[in-house]
Amino acid sequence: MTKNKLIEVAQEARKKAYAKYSDFFVGAAVLTDSGKIFPGCNVENASYSLTICAERTALHSAIVAGERKFTHLVVATENGVSPCGACRQVIWELCGDIPITIVDEKGVCTETRSSTLLPLAFDQNDLNN
Ligand code: THU
Repeated sequence: MTKNKLIEVAQEARKKAYAKYSDFFVGAAVLTDSGKIFPGCNVENASYSLTICAERTALHSAIVAGERKFTHLVVATENGVSPCGACRQVIWELCGDIPITIVDEKGVCTETRSSTLLPLAFDQNDLNN
């Protein structure tokens, strides 16, 4: 089942996190409409604000590969926490309203959607051009 595969990819990606400052390892996996899966992990920096989250690493790498439509995102941490606010905005931009599964090391903690995580989102349709 694709969801189980997505979970496995996110949990594996988590092990690759470059998280030497926070020691908080995050993995992500995004599914495209063509059935491809792109992994991501957080990549930190000594200049802390340059850190990029796992969700954005996964999405940006899929965009570089030419993907434009995403159907499901999985986020993996040690304790099943939710995506940060910045990632919620980026998920909304690139994915619109999609299912998001949040897992810990054992399995599913939360099944949610991007519209639930970011209600009243600022959206490209709100621009006047
Ligand atoms: N982090 C993510 O990768 N995704 C999130 O949604 C929340 C935070 C990372 C950033 C940083 O490397 C570490 O977790 C601690 O904040």
